[in-house]
This record gives sequence, structure tokens and C-alpha cells, in this order.
Amino acid sequence: MALRSVILGTGSALPPTVVTNAELEQRLDTSSTWIVERTGIRERRIAGPGVKTSDLAVEAAMGALSAAGLTGADIDLVIVATATPDETFPATATRVQAQLGITRGAAFDLAAVCSGFIYALTVADSLLKAGQFQRALVIGAELFSHLVDWEDRTTAVLFGDGAGAVVIEGREGDRGLLSARLHADGRHGDLLFVDGGPGSTGTVGKLRMKGREVFRHAVQNLASVTEEVLDDAGYSAADLDWVIPHQANARILEATAKKLGLPMDRVVVTVDSQANTSAASVPLALDTAVRDGRVKPGDLCLLEAMGGGFTWGAVLLRF
Ligand code: ACO
Repeated sequence: MALRSVILGTGSALPPTVVTNAELEQRLDTSSTWIVERTGIRERRIAGPGVKTSDLAVEAAMGALSAAGLTGADIDLVIVATATPDETFPATATRVQAQLGITRGAAFDLAAVCSGFIYALTVADSLLKAGQFQRALVIGAELFSHLVDWEDRTTAVLFGDGAGAVVIEGREGDRGLLSARLHADGRHGDLLFVDGGPGSTGTVGKLRMKGREVFRHAVQNLASVTEEVLDDAGYSAADLDWVIPHQANARILEATAKKLGLPMDRVVVTVDSQANTSAASVPLALDTAVRDGRVKPGDLCLLEAMGGGFTWGAVLLRF
């Protein structure tokens, strides 16, 4: 029987500091009403000075390991999906690996911005199935507060910091990843990008986005990639127990659910309290729904995301 990558545990990390819309009203020409109506966001977590992406990644990874009843010694592959690595090099994944006491196997970062976790999970799944590794930590970790232009009201209100992680292992049986699809279309690179960094430009850069254009592409691309993974595995949207989407905007979540013909009570929503945490948002949402008892072993779950590049993708799994 073929191996499937089964999620053994999930974990997350959110900085303790909450920044509400009311606080942003004091700094920017914006209003809480505008932010809630256009995005569904009410507050976000922002990391304090000195906190690094690897700190959040390690905390999330430790949560996932503990939920799985494992330690770092059981892991031989670490992938960190991030657009905000600690340093240009070494890879943040190697910093995480060292802090977890892992000295074997491989560790690397993956850059696909908001789709990073979906990309990383798909890559890890392929490597486990190929038999070179046994158990992987797949982490999405971001400090988007460092990339945001805090003077730009069109983007500053949208993002937050955080990390989420899963431990996966190749096993035989019905559970695990059933299908995955990744896409990219670099023609749209200038609709959502950072205008500097890392080493090659010699500048740090800030996030720039044409929000309305991104929104339009997001709804189309997420609906089509969702159909692809469902078709691949021989399911329809009605079979889904949970949709665990990238959390960019409540209106994108609602539009995608509507296209699938699914009620919103089958969609896990964290954007209201966490905003858009880029690659961290899918594993953060998954961990939230696992810990509050919504997602249970055997549930059919769709994970999907779209981000800068554009990149987008989806994973269908039986939890
Ligand atoms: N407060 C008050 N007014 C604002 C704010 C703000 N924070 N931001 C923009 N506005 C104004 C604009 O200046 C504009 O004013 P104008 O009509 O006088 O020019 C007006 O509000 C409408 O602006 P739009 O950009 O057209 O507003 P829209 O309804 O498209 O919402 C938003 C903007 C929330 C960015 C939306 O387009 C969006 O969420 N897009 C998706 C982008 C995204 O989430 N990207 C992240 C990664 S990719 C992904 O995850 C899918």
C-alpha cells in the first residue's frame, strides 16, 4: 500500500501583544469600521523588539512535537516557509533545527509567501513518499510587522505576526494527504511584492500591494485549485468537513466558500483576531481548529492559499 503523509501533531505561536483596530485609528487615517467591513479584521498580534521568526517557529514546532508525543530526535526534515527569515543565510530552518536539538537529516527554507505552508507541506509530502526522510516538521512562520509600511493605510491594517507547525510522517492507511496542487504565475509579481531586500538590492524594502487586483485573482485561483485537488482525489466540495484557508480577508473566505457551495460554518476563520500572517495563517488556523475540537481524526480537510508571485495551491487531506 502507498505511503501517505499523516499529520501527527499541530502547534502554534502568537506574540502576546494585541494591536486593535482602535489603536491603528490613532496612527493612520483609517477607521475600525472600514477595516472590519472590508477585511473582517478586528485585531492582530505584533511581536515585540528582538523577537525573531525562528523564536516563533520553535515555539510552534515544540507545540506540534508535544501534541504528537515526539521530540526533536524523531525529526529528520525541517522546512520553514517564510518571507521574513532571521538572516539572509543560514536558512531559518537550520536555526530552528539547532534550537530543537536536531542534528540529522535536512533543513531548508521555502519562499512562496502566503502560499508557503501549502508549498512546504507538498514538498515534504513528496520527500517522505520518496523514502529519504521519515518524519518532517513543516512550519509557517512570519514577522510581517517588519515588512509592513506603517505609514500606508492600504496595507498596514492587514497583517500580523505568528507561526504554525505540523509534524508529518509517512504511513500506510486511509489518513493523510490525498492530493496536492501547486501553481505560480510570475507575470503578476508586481501586484504584491517587497520593494527591496534581501542581499541583492542592499535595501530592506516594504510591502507593496494592489489589493483590489490581488483580491480578484485570489477568488478565481483558489476556486480553481480547490476543484483540482477535489477532482484528483475523487471528492466533491460537499464531502468536505473543513476548509482551512489562508486568512487574508474575510470577504475572500466568503467568496470562496460561496463558489464551493459551502456554508461558512465549515470554514475555519481566524482572520478576525490574527489578520493575515502569510505562511503562518493556514497552520495557525489548523491548530486552532484541532485544539478547540472542530477538526477530528478522519475529517476531510481542504487547505488552500494564494500569495505574492503569484503563487497558489491546495492540499486535500484526511486528518
Ligand atoms: N482605511 C480607510 N480607507 C482605506 C484604507 C484603510 N485602511 N485602505 C484603503 N482605503 C481606501 C482607499 O484609499 C480607497 O479610497 P478611494 O476610493 O478614495 O480611492 C477605498 O478605501 C477603497 O479601496 P480599495 O483598495 O478599492 O478597497 P477594497 O474594497 O479592494 O479593499 C483590501 C482593500 C482590503 C486590501 C482588499 O482589496 C483585499 O483584501 N485584497 C486582498 C489582498 C490581500 O489580502 N493580500 C494579501 C496576500 S495575497 C492573499 O492572501 C490573497
